[in-house]
Amino acid sequence: QSPTEHWRPSIHFSPKKNWMNDPNGLIYFKGYYHLFFQHNPKGNDWGNMSWGHARSKDLWHWEELPVAIPHGEEFIFSGCVVWDKDHVSGLGDASKDLLVAIYTADYPNKKQEQHLAYSNDDGLTWKKYDQNPILDIQLLNFRDPNIIWHHSSKQFIMSVAKPLDRSVQFYGSKNLLKWDLLSEFSNQGELEMIWECPSLVELPIEGREKESKWVLFNSSQGVQKGFVGMQYFVGEFNGKTFINENTSDTKLFVDYGKDFYAAIPFYNTAPNEVMWLGWALSWQYAKEQPTFPWKGQMSSVRKLSLVDTHEGLRLKQDFQPDFSSLEPTFQAKDISISKPKFLNGMKMLQGKSYLIDLEIESTNADRWGLKWQSVDNPKEYTVVAFDENKKQWFIDRSHSGKILSPGFFKLDAAPWVEGKAKHVRVLVDHSMLELLAQEGTVAISSLRFPHSIRENLSVFSEKGKLDLKQITIWEVK
Ligand code: FRU
Repeated sequence: QSPTEHWRPSIHFSPKKNWMNDPNGLIYFKGYYHLFFQHNPKGNDWGNMSWGHARSKDLWHWEELPVAIPHGEEFIFSGCVVWDKDHVSGLGDASKDLLVAIYTADYPNKKQEQHLAYSNDDGLTWKKYDQNPILDIQLLNFRDPNIIWHHSSKQFIMSVAKPLDRSVQFYGSKNLLKWDLLSEFSNQGELEMIWECPSLVELPIEGREKESKWVLFNSSQGVQKGFVGMQYFVGEFNGKTFINENTSDTKLFVDYGKDFYAAIPFYNTAPNEVMWLGWALSWQYAKEQPTFPWKGQMSSVRKLSLVDTHEGLRLKQDFQPDFSSLEPTFQAKDISISKPKFLNGMKMLQGKSYLIDLEIESTNADRWGLKWQSVDNPKEYTVVAFDENKKQWFIDRSHSGKILSPGFFKLDAAPWVEGKAKHVRVLVDHSMLELLAQEGTVAISSLRFPHSIRENLSVFSEKGKLDLKQITIWEVK
């Protein structure tokens, strides 16, 4: 196989070589954002599951480090890392900082139980606890622990999934070693598909100072109405139980693209700086991703909060780091578009990494948006747009190049959020497109694999006019 470096994102993390899926053990510690990940150190397909490791100081440059937790007889599945600040576990050398990883040990076709490993060198090397498991309920499917420190009840809280039951269990612990069952959350939201990778987090509410709510996330796979991805519940957590403030049949989705999965928040960031990233691929066609010598990449890092909408509180995501700190590569104001228009400067953006920001003044068009079209083969194109009749955001990659599966072919569409501005941000990084629209309340993340990276980019408007207040591009050097 010949290398496919032209498809490799440059500001999103991907391993130098071999397979990667879920992010694991995200933690901010001593100036570094640590990213552990589901990794096959020996091949470009799922297998030999171990924890790979990378770190970053600025969330733009990632440094890959040696495998952190190798598999043994057990596969090292998804999990988290916490800082045992007060050495409550009593593990390791108490004169040094202690990081504790808690993850699922998978004994293929036998059992899944929760294990612990610890590190006294800031996450570089890990020792598996000699009295594992720390939590075992004799299930074949029981996985993906995620832990927070809960201030008011002064304990660690673990969320962990029972995938086939579509449920999340909460456990509490004072010492990270002994865990007591607190409650179980089930029978709510999207139930067709199995639940995995849960996380519980307290999020600030925009514009309502000092107010916050608890949010429970989980990832669901299986193909139901063509959708695979992450859902969330908004409510309260009292140290024991999570109470969903919406009706049990309310379904809230994080991202309407197929390439955003298994995201978990970073541990140990400031309370109003909740950030996460996800695996930018889908189990529907992950095997077919045509890249070599690696397979799998992470999404952008996104800052999370809640915002009021006409329908209640909704998740808002913002790209991190903040691109507005960069000098714009291109900026134009008050532009009117009635047919595809190549803006001066936009042609230079072939096969690069950049953020495009469109502020809409008004429009009477049926559809409008952005189009990337191959110079060598005009039949190859990708569209990110808004359909005014259907009131839908979408990414159309049906003619984008290599088509991986029927799931890949289908349009990724998200509903309009009433009351939020027509504001579009698209982060482009080689094969990755991430749309955050309407103040971050709409997200669509989609991969594409164009045969040629020589593309023209245009803003278009169909059957009508699009008036732009402003268009700004930040190119990442
Ligand atoms: C989610 C997942 C997790 C599991 C891991 C195995 O993508 O299926 O539930 O821990 O991947 O690699």
